[in-house]
Amino acid sequence: MTEPDGLVERDRRRVWHPYTQMLTRAAPLPIVKGEGVYLYTEDGRRLLDGISSWWVNIHGHAHPKLNQALSDQVRVLEHVVFASCTHVPAVELAERLVAVLPSGLTHVFYSDNGSTAVEVAVKLACQYWQNINQPPRRIFVALHHGYHGDTVGAMSVSDESIFTRAFSLLRFPVVRAHAPYCYRCPLGLQRDTCSVDCLGSLEAALNTHGDAVAAVLIEPMLQGAGGMIVWPSEYLAGVRRLCDQYGTLLIADEVLTGFGRTGRMFASEHARVTPDIICLSKALTAGYLPLGATVVTERVYEAFLSHDRTKTFFHGHSFTANPLACAVALASLDLFEQGRVLDRVCVLERKLREGLSPLRKLSVVGDVRVIGGVGAVELVADKQTRGGYLDERGPRLADAFLERGLLLRPLGNVVYFMPPYVITEEETDWALEQIAEVLEEMDRGQ
Ligand SMILES: Cc1ncc(COP(=O)(O)O)c(C=O)c1O
Repeated sequence: MTEPDGLVERDRRRVWHPYTQMLTRAAPLPIVKGEGVYLYTEDGRRLLDGISSWWVNIHGHAHPKLNQALSDQVRVLEHVVFASCTHVPAVELAERLVAVLPSGLTHVFYSDNGSTAVEVAVKLACQYWQNINQPPRRIFVALHHGYHGDTVGAMSVSDESIFTRAFSLLRFPVVRAHAPYCYRCPLGLQRDTCSVDCLGSLEAALNTHGDAVAAVLIEPMLQGAGGMIVWPSEYLAGVRRLCDQYGTLLIADEVLTGFGRTGRMFASEHARVTPDIICLSKALTAGYLPLGATVVTERVYEAFLSHDRTKTFFHGHSFTANPLACAVALASLDLFEQGRVLDRVCVLERKLREGLSPLRKLSVVGDVRVIGGVGAVELVADKQTRGGYLDERGPRLADAFLERGLLLRPLGNVVYFMPPYVITEEETDWALEQIAEVLEEMDRGQ
C-alpha cells in the first residue's frame, strides 16, 4: 500500500503561494499547530515565530482568551451585511479604538486587510476635496522605500520595486519624497549633526504641486517592507507640520506599526501627532483574522455628510466589520488593558538593543536599527562604501536560521526579528544568539 501524500505534496499540486516562484520554490513549511511564540511542523519540528507570522501576531498563537472570545462570538453571530445592519462587536470596537487612538480620530470605516485599509484612505482623501467643493486633487505624495499593500491603489502609493514592476501600467503616478533613511541618507548627511534636512524634499513636493495634493501618505516611524527603516521622530513631526502648512491631509499607514509594535500603542504618538486618516490592520485582531480599519477625524467625516447622494462614500466589502474579527480585536484590546503589554514591548526593545548592537563590529553588518519590538540588521558587502547589499544572501540566511529552529524571512539584505510580544526574556536571548551566530559564521565566510 502506498503512503498517503503529506501536506507538502498536496500543496504542490493545487496551491499557489504569495510572492513565490512556484517553479523553483523550496518546499513550504507544513505547519500543523501554533502555541505562544512557537509553530509546530507536520514532521515534529518546533520553530520560534520570529516574524510574528507576517507581523500580525502580538499575544502569541492560540491565546486562550482570544480563542474564547472567538468561540463565544461564533455561537452568537458569525457574519452579517454591514451596509444596512450593525452589531455589538463592530460598535464596541469602534468606540474602543477611538478611545485609544491619538485624540481627534473619531469615525471608523471597516474593511478586510491592510491593503484595503490603505485603499479606503486613498479614496477618502480623493473624494474629500470634491465633497468640500474644492477643485479635484489628484496627487498623492508618498515616500521612497514606502510599502502600503498590493491592491492597485495601495501598490501605486508604494515605492517602485521588483514587486510592482510588472504592474507599472496600472499604477497611478505618485510624487515621491525622501524618507529619513539615516544609514543611507539621501543627502549624504549624518543624523547627529543634521537638522532632518530630508524634509526639504517633501516641502519641495508640496510647494511644487500646491493645491493639487490630495494627501501625504507615510508609514510613521518604521518603514517595514522597505527595509525596517527607523525614523527620527522629528521627521514625523515635520511631516505633520508641512501638511498643516500646505493645507493637505496626512494619512498614517499604521498597518504594521499600530498596536504597540514600535513601543507606543500607535507610532504617531512618538511625535504626538494626529493624522487626518489612520490605517490599521495586522495586529488589530492580534493576528487572528483579517480586518482593516480606516479611522478619520471629524473634519474628514463631516465632508461626507450631505443630502447630496453623490457625496456618499461608495465603498465596501462583503466581509466589512466581520463580527468574529471584531470580537477578537476587542479581546486583544482587553489584553492591552489588563496585561501591561506595552511594558513587555519595552523590555523586548531593551533586549534587542543589547543583543543586536554588538553585531555592528562584524564586517558584514552596516547598520543595526531597533524600535519597540523590532530589531533589524542591515548587511553590506563593503562597510566603507555601504555598497553590495548582499540581497541574494537572504534566502540562504533564512535556511540557516530555520535549521536552528528560528523562523525569519530577511528582506533582501536586512535581517530582522519581530516576535510576538509574549516572548520571554530567555526566548529572546536564545533567538538573538542564533542571529549572532549565523551572522558571525557569515562574517567568517562560512
Ligand atoms: C505598512 C503596511 N501597509 C499595508 C500593508 C498591506 O497589508 P495586507 O498585507 O494586510 O494587505 C502592509 C503589509 O505588510 C504594511 O506593512
